[in-house]
Amino acid sequence: MNRRYYLTTPIYYVNDVPHLGHAYTTIAADVVARFHRQRGREVFFLTGTDEHGQKVAQAAAKLGIPARAHVDAVHQRFKDTWAALGISHDAFIRTTDEGHIAVVREALERLHAAGHVYAKDYEGWYHVSDEIFVTDPAEIERLQALGRVEHVRERNYFFRMSAFQQRLVETIESGELEIRPETRRNEILGFLRKPLEDLSISRPKSRVAWGVELPFDPEHVCYVWVDALLNYVSAISYLGGGGGFEERFAPWWPADLHLMGKDILTTHSVYWTTLLMALELPLPKRIFSHGWWLVDGQKMSKSIGNVVDPIKLAEEFGVDALRYVLLREVTFGQDGDFSAKGITGRINSDLANGLGNLASRMLSLIGRAGGTLPARPAGSTVGAELESELPAAVARFEDDLEQLRFAHALQGWWSLLDRTNQLVQATAPWELLKRDDEQARLDFEALAATVGTVLATSAVLLAPILPERSAALWTALGCDGDPSDTKYPAGVGVVRPQPGTTLGPATTLFPRLDPAGVTSFAERAAEIERRGVTGTLEEAMIAIDEFSKIELRVGEVLTAERVPKSKKLLELQVGFGDEGGLPVRRQVLAGIGLSYAPEDLVGKRVVVVFNLAPATLMGRESQGMILAADDGQGGVRVVTFDGDIALGSRVR
Ligand code: MSP
Repeated sequence: MNRRYYLTTPIYYVNDVPHLGHAYTTIAADVVARFHRQRGREVFFLTGTDEHGQKVAQAAAKLGIPARAHVDAVHQRFKDTWAALGISHDAFIRTTDEGHIAVVREALERLHAAGHVYAKDYEGWYHVSDEIFVTDPAEIERLQALGRVEHVRERNYFFRMSAFQQRLVETIESGELEIRPETRRNEILGFLRKPLEDLSISRPKSRVAWGVELPFDPEHVCYVWVDALLNYVSAISYLGGGGGFEERFAPWWPADLHLMGKDILTTHSVYWTTLLMALELPLPKRIFSHGWWLVDGQKMSKSIGNVVDPIKLAEEFGVDALRYVLLREVTFGQDGDFSAKGITGRINSDLANGLGNLASRMLSLIGRAGGTLPARPAGSTVGAELESELPAAVARFEDDLEQLRFAHALQGWWSLLDRTNQLVQATAPWELLKRDDEQARLDFEALAATVGTVLATSAVLLAPILPERSAALWTALGCDGDPSDTKYPAGVGVVRPQPGTTLGPATTLFPRLDPAGVTSFAERAAEIERRGVTGTLEEAMIAIDEFSKIELRVGEVLTAERVPKSKKLLELQVGFGDEGGLPVRRQVLAGIGLSYAPEDLVGKRVVVVFNLAPATLMGRESQGMILAADDGQGGVRVVTFDGDIALGSRVR
């Protein structure tokens, strides 16, 4: 089996902040990445942001800020969201990264030099929010009525996509390129029965200036989709570590899996594949497109106000619970409806009651019986039948996840958990503990061993989906380390805890949610509307008057000393010159002691947040904050000035 696995999510547009739909694809990809890592494969999991194009430029213009500032702010929101959702990507690419831009230019140059590109005057209808030219007359009419398309007449460069149509059809039909689910593959083949047009790959700067300049015509920028799709190769030729093309690119390409929503299947299955053919690169092995989430039966949209923020969801329901419901609720590939009531019910039934209750009930009984996990004794048949079913259940789970049948995998495993709960109920171990005969002891131990095995196997199997809660379960079982860290190159089998293992401290894996306290997303949207707050992009930005509330001043470090018992903290006396004949001073505590010796700082002019509310750190008052940045090597550097500057000056 291939020991390497390269998978990607789409790179998300930074015209708006991340929402549930983006989180869905990224969580699914994260599960796949974790699944393969756990099975000993070397994984490269790529995600990122798509930062060029008209749509992003328009979003920045609407906010009245430069495109660069806009993309810097919003891309960070994506990174923060992935951190909050436990996403384990190996690289985060931005199409404004210099390395990526260099690859785009190089690829365009190659396409041009090989005769795959020509210039032509073009007139057509452009759909800005999808960033595509629409050619179907009925579709143009529909979109015109909605005001979604604009008429454009311009000279563009075209990629001879049509030349690759036949080869593409053959590649899909032969199975060399796998498009899944099957229905979507058929849709693409249906689309390819009509003659394929050539693809416009440029935009005149006069219309869209925010993009990668064409190497062969500085008056044009690259079409955002061509720029974006190339991220899948640019990321591995420059982010993947040292060495050249052979070391970085060849080991990872072709990708094992491109994952995305059904909205962008055509751009991947047709534009991307034909571009790769023209660049003489192998095609990805598998393209999987999943379905669409509605929220309370409606499309998520800014105008309806029902755009669901994944960070808030994770705070309310728990990260792992959110990951679970997204994958459990609908068959991967089909559409689903996301409702607060629906997920509350699912979390309570499967996580709080199903898995959580099994663990807490049985572990507390084992705790009462001495607190160690017993070996399965001879002389009791309790649980024997269930144990005999375990290997097949694990194998089914393995197979399902390998095929991205998340919901089916979880359904299957939960039916085993249900039977385990029934076995506990039927065996009534609390009664066995009251008896003091030998058979009762044997039956209790047999049950405890069976449930211990089911729970340990669950912790390992479910780790890709519930990384955090599986680790908590593992610890509660008394096992060392993290179930995500153990590698199973031959596939996960039944996991038996070492007999005699002492249980860890008791824990609640999944708290029960009170359905009465959970309001629907529609109600939340109405509430936001009522309060006049928009829960979207504007939230990620601050207005200039908000910034001016922060008073930044130039100060000089007069004295500096280490705070005893702290590795990092330094206590600084900072002077800001005189005001009305009196010296202005502040005591500031700064966590920069690993990067600076106190004497290095004395005499330095630094930037201090002057109107920060005082705080007490290690018993000492801090009356401000010094600005500093991470140096990327685990240290920090303070912000200083490149010339003389008067003490007390405002920094703006
Ligand atoms: N920038 C392009 C992709 C370029 S990839 C080379 C783009 N970006 S996007 O921000 O619009 O993200 C689209 C993707 O977000 C979808 O393909 C899907 O993965 C995810 N989703 C966005 N909304 C969604 C739902 N409502 N439901 C499920 N997934 C959704 O297109």
